[in-house]
Amino acid sequence: MKKEVLEVLKKNKNNFISGEQLSNRLGVTRTSIWKQINILKEEGYKIESISRKGYKLIEEPDILSRDDLLIELQNNKLGNDIYYFKTIDSTNNYGKKLALDGALEGTIVLSDEQTGGRGRLGRAWVSPPGTSISMSIILRPTIYPNEAAKITEITAAAVANAISRVTKLKTGIKWPNDIIINSKKVCGILTEMSAEINSINYVIVGMGINVNINEFPDEINNVATSLKKELNMEISRKELVINIVNEFEKLYYDFINTGDLSKTVEICKEKSVILGKMIKIINRNEIIIAKAIDIDENGELIIKKDDGEIINIISGEISVRGINSYI
Ligand code: BTN
Repeated sequence: MKKEVLEVLKKNKNNFISGEQLSNRLGVTRTSIWKQINILKEEGYKIESISRKGYKLIEEPDILSRDDLLIELQNNKLGNDIYYFKTIDSTNNYGKKLALDGALEGTIVLSDEQTGGRGRLGRAWVSPPGTSISMSIILRPTIYPNEAAKITEITAAAVANAISRVTKLKTGIKWPNDIIINSKKVCGILTEMSAEINSINYVIVGMGINVNINEFPDEINNVATSLKKELNMEISRKELVINIVNEFEKLYYDFINTGDLSKTVEICKEKSVILGKMIKIINRNEIIIAKAIDIDENGELIIKKDDGEIINIISGEISVRGINSYI
């Protein structure tokens, strides 16, 4: 009911709507409308209430409210089911549980804080409360397991585009999965899957974005940044989440429906911070130093080794001097 009340208030933002209109429209008593309004006010929605005039929504807080996101994403393919937590160990962990219980493609898990956030290669990922985005999307793509790395690139392209759209900041992509602003990391992506030899059961694509974080621990202060640090102003996490889902949805279904990854590849190339540079690639137990030459139509990175050999790599941990980490 709270969601329905919020939806009507949002449609009439900055205009009064009477308690009677609300109760007629939603088929509940005026008292229960009043109760829901009070809950919304407690959540931070600024709602003016004047007797005989009714209620007017004046300002929406920057909280990742499940109800609000469900309303904003109701016409999307993704985000029809959203799980929101104040705090959780890891949204990817919870996403896995949901996927095993049969959650549908597009189910989203968000948490204001993570206490056991996971990064790539078994690293920890810090998601402080109120200032970051920790989001995982459950997908059930009809692709072969060896194509799953493409989903990481789709996510990187979507997040980079969304951040640039919302903040006007220039974003870079450190293939395949880091978003970089001014040589520092602002977002990391962790894609995990469960698959059989020929088919994928589910993919969980998790993203952690440093949005309004003021300070980082000393160990990562010279390699990590936040949107607030770059812009000197707070950014709405809600707006960013909506933009990410919209961008992701376009690129993801474009690929799933046509098998063509070219839109994503175009963005990843245009925003690449590694092409033309010497990079260090850590893949399984192998370390390769090579020049990053190109990203091909499958999203694979083409590198030229010291001995002149040119090879493609599907995924890996990349270091570039001066960007987020060092050779
Ligand atoms: C990395 O750069 O190493 C990847 C970081 C991924 C962090 C996100 S936050 C949401 C999701 N839940 C997790 O535990 N990890 C990912």
